[in-house]
Amino acid sequence: MSEILVTGATGNVGREVVGQLLTTGTAVRALARDPETAGLPKRVKVVRGDLSESDTLEAALAGSDTVFLIWPFLTTKDAPAALEAIARHARRVVYLSSSGVNEDAEPQTDPINQLHADMERLIEKSGLEWTILRANTIASNARGWAEQIRTTHVVRGPDIAATAVIHEGDIAAVAVRALIDDGHAGVKHVLTGPQVLSRAEQVQVIGEGIGRPARFERVPVQVARQQMLADGRPLALVEALLASAETRGESDLITCTVEEITGAPARTFRSWVEEHADEFR
Ligand SMILES: NC(=O)c1ccc[n+]([C@@H]2O[C@H](COP(=O)([O-])OP(=O)(O)OC[C@H]3O[C@@H](n4cnc5c(N)ncnc54)[C@H](OP(=O)(O)O)[C@@H]3O)[C@@H](O)[C@H]2O)c1
Repeated sequence: MSEILVTGATGNVGREVVGQLLTTGTAVRALARDPETAGLPKRVKVVRGDLSESDTLEAALAGSDTVFLIWPFLTTKDAPAALEAIARHARRVVYLSSSGVNEDAEPQTDPINQLHADMERLIEKSGLEWTILRANTIASNARGWAEQIRTTHVVRGPDIAATAVIHEGDIAAVAVRALIDDGHAGVKHVLTGPQVLSRAEQVQVIGEGIGRPARFERVPVQVARQQMLADGRPLALVEALLASAETRGESDLITCTVEEITGAPARTFRSWVEEHADEFR
């Protein structure tokens, strides 16, 4: 029986995709660079592979006709080879892109949206049957604030335009439908949460969820850069995140796509906080 290969399976979204696929009885294979530490359910076959080294993908892909693809890099340099490898084995790919991609803007407003726009184009040309999930800011990004909230109750960082943050479980729920049902080929689904929230509002909701006030404090870009580098993030990623923070415009876009596809309304950021409150205490 053919299996679905989930890339990014140890990450926030991919782990949810794996878990939800299992509940449908689908045979799942998970890609990880280090299967020993992947910590995935026993029923999942964890295969070693690196998306930036296409030859490591051949064995992982053998026997998979469908792939959930994330692209965890800031460049598409290795994407053509990875997509060729996928197309040699699989028929269908579901790619996790960004709701910030603007069909009518080229170049895109920031390097992260540019990456996803470039990936989308490569995927469209790959010969695979594709579905693109353009997801808004993922709620689990807030995990990056956990230490600051635990220790100081204040999140210091660059501000970024308010947006309808989406629960990673809802992205996964849509991904599962696109992976196993027909009718999503050649479609770009724009996925958002149900409510537009600023960073200050998100931090406030976390404070309410843990029963101890927390607040967001906007800091100048130079201070944010030093802090992010001190946290151990690579320079290229820091610059891409800061560019996004500076250039992304206000968006009040809220879509009903999660509910239309899964039958359940998109979950609130507050519900995400309730599930993860202990990480912030
Ligand atoms: N954050 C957002 O708001 C947002 C919004 C829209 C779209 N996205 C897209 O969603 C993707 C997934 O987000 P996430 O939060 O689930 O990511 P995450 O939790 O940071 O996980 C990253 C995943 O990438 C894998 N990975 C890293 N380098 C790899 C490599 N060289 N080869 C193969 N796998 C590699 C990691 O697996 P191992 O370390 O186990 O190999 C891990 O499973 C992002 O990469 C981004 O492109 C994000």
